This record gives sequence, structure tokens and C-alpha cells, in this order.
Amino acid sequence: MMRVLGIETTCDETAASVVQLRPSGGGDILSNEVMSQIAEHAAYGGVVPEIAARAHVDVLDHLIKRALDKAGMKLSQLDGIAAAAGPGLVGGVIVGLTAGKALALATRKPFLAVNHLEGHALTARLTDGIAFPYLLLLVSGGHTQLLAVKGVGDYVRLGTTLDDAVGEAFDKVAKMLGLPYPGGPQVEKQALHGDPERFTLPRPMMGRPNADFSLSGLKTAVRIEAERISPLTKTDVADLCASFQAAIVDVLADRIRVALQRFETQLGAPSALVVAGGVAANGAIRRALSRFAGEAGLHLIVPSPVLCTDNGAMIAWAGIERLGLGMIDDLTFAPRPRWPLDGKAELSLNGKA
Ligand code: KG4
Ligand code: ZN
Repeated sequence: MMRVLGIETTCDETAASVVQLRPSGGGDILSNEVMSQIAEHAAYGGVVPEIAARAHVDVLDHLIKRALDKAGMKLSQLDGIAAAAGPGLVGGVIVGLTAGKALALATRKPFLAVNHLEGHALTARLTDGIAFPYLLLLVSGGHTQLLAVKGVGDYVRLGTTLDDAVGEAFDKVAKMLGLPYPGGPQVEKQALHGDPERFTLPRPMMGRPNADFSLSGLKTAVRIEAERISPLTKTDVADLCASFQAAIVDVLADRIRVALQRFETQLGAPSALVVAGGVAANGAIRRALSRFAGEAGLHLIVPSPVLCTDNGAMIAWAGIERLGLGMIDDLTFAPRPRWPLDGKAELSLNGKA
């Protein structure tokens, strides 16, 4: 039975996990250790790359040992070592990638350099064993993409953000309203008792025939409203959060609708609509997606919050998928701060520039 260790250090979580392939499909997570650095970065209102890299160095060895112990596994019992090789903050990526290579070298096990985004993209196969192709909405602090997942290493990007990621927009709105970092959960909490219709905010890109996003105009509109009525009362903050969140929900539903049409034209019906990334923890967004999936007759998969946010299990699982296909990497594999899943999309973008 195939078992792989996965290491994740591309942003502000240090994570290690052991996953085992299940003969009936999907995988069993034998351990999933995550150490968040939120406290280290909170004072700065965002992730500080140097602090992140140092924190990964401090805890990674210990975390890997804990992941092996909790899985009841020795290094010699593993079939491969996987590490996220990007995209992300290069200082952090180097820490995890080097640790993974060193373990692979010492144990003479296959090494798998995993694209962090592929980890997110394949998580629904770990949890639910679903078939290709499916439609993926990836919404985190660093990424906002709609992708057709056709196979391992085979992605078509249907839409992306032209400026801010959805989580980033939540974080920036929180910051301008004086709410602590990370802002997403704070905005959601405020929105619970706010009036989503008090402020008329734009829904950028809605109705456009491509599935791209643009969120900086929405963020600016929130700032203009906040400045207009400043100083803000508690009710003002709650109403701004509710109005902002309602705009995001509308934009997401519209963009997914367009992506689904494009998917169906190119590939036929998807096996599911899969949502991944930290923003998928948002209750209002989850409810809207479930309404949308119901209407479209789509199977909706939203992995549990620990598997939506950054973790080692998704890296281990992507490693298992790649190992099963013989897609083993060399120990000279270099870190990739930028690493789009859909290489072709990147080429055509470069061609335009
Ligand atoms: O996937 P993730 O943990 O880290 C990466 O960005 O890779 O996502 C974190 C992002 C942050 O921007 C955070 O504000 C957002 O996800 N987030 C939320 C919620 N929980 C986390 N956004 C909206 N509502 C939430 N409940
Ligand atoms: Zn991520």
C-alpha cells in the first residue's frame, strides 16, 4: 500500500503529513500536523517573508518527526517523499524542499516536487475519490482561479484574478475597517449582524463572457464609503462587511456560472464542482455555492476546513498520484516562486505582454 510523506512550507503554515493510498479509491490521512504562524505575523498585518522562512526552519524537523510518530511510521516504511516546490515565498519553499530532498537522499526513496496548487486541486480525490474531469474554484489569500482539472498535471485555467485574490480582498477590507489579521473570518463575523443592502457596491466583471475576476474596484468602493461616513460606528462596520461579502458572493456565483459553461463546451459535464482554499471556510460563500450547485445539478465538494487551508496531506496525496504515474523528480529540482498550473495560459499571457 503506497504511503508518502508530504511537506508544505510555501506560505505561513509549516506542515507535514503521511497519507496512504486506499485500495477502494482516495486516501487515508495517517497524520496531518500543521503549525500556523498567524501569531508571528499578526503584529505586521500580513505575512513577513523573512519571519516565515525562519519559523519554518525552527519547527519543520520536529513537525516531520511528529507526523511520522503519529502515523506509526518509520522513514523506511514510506514509498516516497513529497515536498511543495512552489509557488510561494521562496525562502520558505527552500526550507521544505531541501528537507524533502535530504530525506529522499538519505533513505533512497523517490522524491516528488509538488506544485502547491496541484495539492489544492487534487484534494477532492484524496477525500472523495472523484473522477476527472472536474471544475475547481480555488480561493485563498494568494490565489483565485477557476480550473478544469482534467488529470494529474493536466489543467486548463478558465479564469483568474486580474488584481487581488478573494482572501486578500477580505484581508484588505478588514484592515481598512480596523479589524485584526487575518481579516476573512473577522469580516464574516461582522457581516452576520450587518445589513447587506445598506451600501450599493459594484460587482466587478459580472456578466463578462470570460471567467476572470477583478476585485480592486470593489475594495476601493468600500474605502470610499467608509471615508464618506467616517467616523465609523459598530453598525457601520457590520453593514460595510455585510455589503462587501454580498458583492463577493454575487461575483463568485456569476464567475462560476461562466466557467461552467466554458467547461461544458470544451469537456462535457464535470464530475463535480470542487471548492478549495481558506476562503471556502466562509459560511455565506458555502451556502451560495451549495445553492448554485443544486440549481446546476452539480455534485459539490467542499473539503473540511483543515484540508481547504494549507496542509501537508494535500502535498502527500499529490505525491501519491504522481508516484503512481511514475512522475518522479530529480534532486536538482529548483524552487519555483512562480509556477502556474496551466503552463499554456502563462505562455499566452507572456505572448501578449
Ligand atoms: O488557503 P489559506 O489558508 O492560505 C493561503 O492564502 O494560501 O487562505 C487564507 C485566506 C486569508 O486571506 C483569509 O482571510 C481567508 O483565507 N479566509 C476567509 C475566511 N477564513 C479564511 N475569508 C473569508 N471568510 C472566512 N471565513
Ligand atoms: Zn494554499
